[in-house]
Amino acid sequence: MSRTEKILCVDDSTDTLELLRRNLELNGFTVFTVSSVEEAMRLLENTEVDIVITDMKMPKISGIELVKYVSENYRNTGIMMITGFATIEGAVSAMKTGADEYLAKPFTDEELQTALDKILQKVRDRKMIAGNSEKSGFHGIIGKSHEMQKVFSIVKKAAISNANVLITGESGTGKELVARAIHYQSLRSKSPFIPVNCAAIPEELLESELFGYVKGAFTGADSTRAGFFQTADGGTIFLDEVSEMSHAMQAKLLRVIQEREIMMVGSRKPISVDIRVVCATNKDLHSLVSKKLFREDLFYRLNVINIDLPPLRKREDDIIELLTFFLHKFSREIGRDDLIISESALNILKSYHWPGNVRELENLMQRLTVMAEDSSVEIADLPTYMRSSFYRPNGLDRKLEEVEMEYINSVLSSVNGNKSKAAQILGIDRKTLRTKLKEV
Ligand SMILES: Nc1ncnc2c1ncn2[C@@H]1O[C@H](COP(=O)(O)OP(=O)(O)OP(=O)(O)O)[C@@H](O)[C@H]1O
Ligand SMILES: [Mg+2]
Repeated sequence: MSRTEKILCVDDSTDTLELLRRNLELNGFTVFTVSSVEEAMRLLENTEVDIVITDMKMPKISGIELVKYVSENYRNTGIMMITGFATIEGAVSAMKTGADEYLAKPFTDEELQTALDKILQKVRDRKMIAGNSEKSGFHGIIGKSHEMQKVFSIVKKAAISNANVLITGESGTGKELVARAIHYQSLRSKSPFIPVNCAAIPEELLESELFGYVKGAFTGADSTRAGFFQTADGGTIFLDEVSEMSHAMQAKLLRVIQEREIMMVGSRKPISVDIRVVCATNKDLHSLVSKKLFREDLFYRLNVINIDLPPLRKREDDIIELLTFFLHKFSREIGRDDLIISESALNILKSYHWPGNVRELENLMQRLTVMAEDSSVEIADLPTYMRSSFYRPNGLDRKLEEVEMEYINSVLSSVNGNKSKAAQILGIDRKTLRTKLKEV
């Protein structure tokens, strides 16, 4: 039997790799085997595979990291995690990180085959959805509103140039999706797209993560390691939450952009890199510049092209399209027939403020498809804060404090309880948010 699917197997045990290879090749798959996460990432850069099967426990980088990496960077690739421990927790954590299926060692040929069949079905569905959204959207970005059409046209123009791009917009408006679209629409699409969340990496590690380090640069640097800029050579580096960079790092970034070369930590030898820099922020960089919190010269270097993503509440046409898209997507994922949304519920969803933007809408649709009892989503299925009088024109009998708490709770829920994100949306600091939450 000959098939077209390619499978990458990652395991530090050669016995398991051989076992997998024999079984999969007998079933007609094309098989690649590697023994570490690093090798897997390198192979994925140049080879398209349909499924990644990875062991969970491996020395150095664990399989969980690979699962995250693949689910973030290769959306159409199916992922199976195998572990030596058959535990519920193992299964749950594997699925949470983005694995499609989970298999405990030792497994039979039949178990492997069943899990593979399930994944292949999921991959086919995902490709179909991506294909469908391609029609109405652009690189998986849904948006037929005039505002989003304008965004797509700037992305197309930006993609053919090498100019640096700054993407701005509220949390959850799709900044990262746009950054990917720029890369995959550009001539650099065959080279890597490397996303770096500047806020998530501790200040003291950021430099070595970005520029790499040479052996002996600091205690613990027992071998030379490339940084993100080198990994992204020829491609695009996406610096997310760029406003969070310290002044020292801003100076170093400016140097890289001007000179097109980096210096690894612990080395004085410049290495030239061919990189397109795309940045994103949900802060007002202009005002950070005027407060001297962000370097003006760097701001102009990054902001050659600006793409500003409009908040969801300003594009009603997209709300309906996104609702339908995610409803189909999540219904199909859990194997139920497509749900529909009743007209009255739809009216509420259309006029809702969506403080968490598309991310909030996506999370809500996922929850609704899992929880819905019937084939139609009714007002009663919507969260209380959406149904409350606060969003209705005639609800004029409430204390400011009540409305504030309700709004805070709705924002919190829109970002799945993430207090930093909620504080950002609310325009207050985390401490103020905590105080407000304690008041009740
Ligand atoms: N127009 C869109 N079409 C389809 N999905 C979208 C769209 N916009 C956003 N999403 C989805 O919403 C979620 C949030 O998007 P993304 O991470 O790009 O937002 P962001 O602007 O980077 O947010 P943050 O500032 O919080 O990092 C993702 O799951 C993304 O796939
Ligand atoms: Mg983001």
